[in-house]
Amino acid sequence: MKKLFSLILLAVFFITAGAHQSNDMKIISVGENQSLLRIHANENYLLFPVEESIDDSKIELLVNGKVEKVFYVRLANNKVDYYVPFDLIPYKGENLTFRVTTPKMHQPVRRSKRDSEHKELWIKRISLSDKFDKLNREQYRPVYHHTPSYGWMNDPNGMFYKDGEWHLYFQWNPYGSRWQNMTWGHSSSPDLVNWTQHDAAIEPNDLGTIFSGSAAIDRYNTAGFGTDAVVAMYTSAGDYQMQSLAFSHDNGMSFENYSDNPVITLPTEARDPNFFYNEKTGLWNLVLAHALEKEILIFSSPDLKQWKLESSFGKGLGAREGVWECPDLFELPVEGTDEKKWVMIVNLNPGGPFGGSATQYFVGDFDGKTFIPDTTPGGFVPTKWLDYGKDYYATVTWSDAPDNRRVGIAWMSNWQYADEVPTMQYRSANSLPRDLGLFRGKDGQIYVSSKPVKELLKLRRQPLSSLKNISVGKNGTSIELPDDGVCEITMNAIVKKSPLFLSLKNDAGEVVTIAYDPKSSTLSLDRTQSGVTDFSENFPAVTIAPTHETSGKLNLRIFIDKSSVEIFDADGKYSMTNLVFPSLPYTKLEITSDGSNTRIENLVVYPLRNQNN
Ligand code: FRU
Repeated sequence: MKKLFSLILLAVFFITAGAHQSNDMKIISVGENQSLLRIHANENYLLFPVEESIDDSKIELLVNGKVEKVFYVRLANNKVDYYVPFDLIPYKGENLTFRVTTPKMHQPVRRSKRDSEHKELWIKRISLSDKFDKLNREQYRPVYHHTPSYGWMNDPNGMFYKDGEWHLYFQWNPYGSRWQNMTWGHSSSPDLVNWTQHDAAIEPNDLGTIFSGSAAIDRYNTAGFGTDAVVAMYTSAGDYQMQSLAFSHDNGMSFENYSDNPVITLPTEARDPNFFYNEKTGLWNLVLAHALEKEILIFSSPDLKQWKLESSFGKGLGAREGVWECPDLFELPVEGTDEKKWVMIVNLNPGGPFGGSATQYFVGDFDGKTFIPDTTPGGFVPTKWLDYGKDYYATVTWSDAPDNRRVGIAWMSNWQYADEVPTMQYRSANSLPRDLGLFRGKDGQIYVSSKPVKELLKLRRQPLSSLKNISVGKNGTSIELPDDGVCEITMNAIVKKSPLFLSLKNDAGEVVTIAYDPKSSTLSLDRTQSGVTDFSENFPAVTIAPTHETSGKLNLRIFIDKSSVEIFDADGKYSMTNLVFPSLPYTKLEITSDGSNTRIENLVVYPLRNQNN
């Protein structure tokens, strides 16, 4: 008995000798790659040290011996790239236990008296703190585009407008700057331009992590969650992909999951439910991406809970190299007519016009059950692209927007290299929000127009520089951009015969070349020399847009924001969205032309600022 007792004592000595100790934190090794982290939640955050390039560790929060939360963090082993906070505020004053399972590659904790030099790095660096630094100071963090304050972001989700606020949710990893732990992050804005980030809105639960989806106001209380409840529907990504409901009584600040989830289950991968109330039929409609079949399933429902499959759209149509994801369906008037048409948005990855992710769409008619796409006179269903850059994916639109507006927003990245772009504390921004419309092109087809929302005008400061009525030739002319490069450039030009080149340049010799070729009526952007491009072989690229214009008129709005260039035709007939990572801001615009017949009628550079700067 005595022997047994001293053996236990010895074992306890070795185990706790390998532990990290403080009054509020104790780490006990319980196996080769497993530790128990015990803390007293006296401060606001538990800060996990992250090393980006290594595998995830699994972290389980145990409450009364039961797993309450599971999440994954790339816990540092060799070096610390940054820290991520675990929010302790809901647990203030409690004693918490986390079970941490590190990947095999981690150096195991040595159980010896003198082991402190040998501990895994995360054990040395994990800490409790009242503060977490969310300050926006990374070189490439945009000034007027939405980004999460920290962590990874992909698709925009569940956007709705209510009581003067535009709500934007997004696929978010709160515990690292690479894809993982899918959660609905939440930001809101009174004007689509100044954003405030709130607490996570929907967190992973027993059915899985929270993939993309949509939200709308249930004005007639059809679901029984209460009049004007905000109802969200998302994909529960567990062993299967299932569709689940959640509802909010506080204008989308927090959501409760519906007790009878999931509401749609299918035997094959289906995701990203997007629903809307169809006033004509008095029923809800839902579009769901049948990802691998590359079709969109269309459902209807009286109450958001019972869904009837009405039809499927898209088999054999459109661009189909990759999976179909994140659909949207809405009606819009055709500019200058009494006609209305429906737009079916289908995001595709890979298989975009310049490789990787992109947003295609179809214009047609919808009767509440079936979507019939328009065809060319030859009976062909054309593939149309919403944007002609490399960084415009997962586009969806706001529900319940005022003034019959249909505002869309995209994730400004591409799955080809999204997790390698040279940012750290956060990764990825959204595109500018855009008002969508319809116009009839010269080929007789109806296309979607995209215009930067009018609210962006209020970001303009006094023009920094301008040009009026000048001819440009080979020697060209040069004009100043703001020191931080953050600006909007507006330009009206007549380009009849020879190409026009607009080059954004910096003091490091880096350049983005925007070229208009009047012969082919195309606009291109070349980012091969734009700055840091070598993080992915898919990043250096030239993207090209057809301009729908043969008159020689070139009217552009160009938005530059630290690490992005978005070009819009002034009437919204085409847009082009590309990321760039210059080592210094572009502070000069050089304008040249191959011939002499090119005229800049008007060009203005507006520095842009939002409330925070
Ligand atoms: C699109 C997507 C969606 C999915 C989400 C997961 O980028 O793959 O289909 O719901 O990302 O984060």
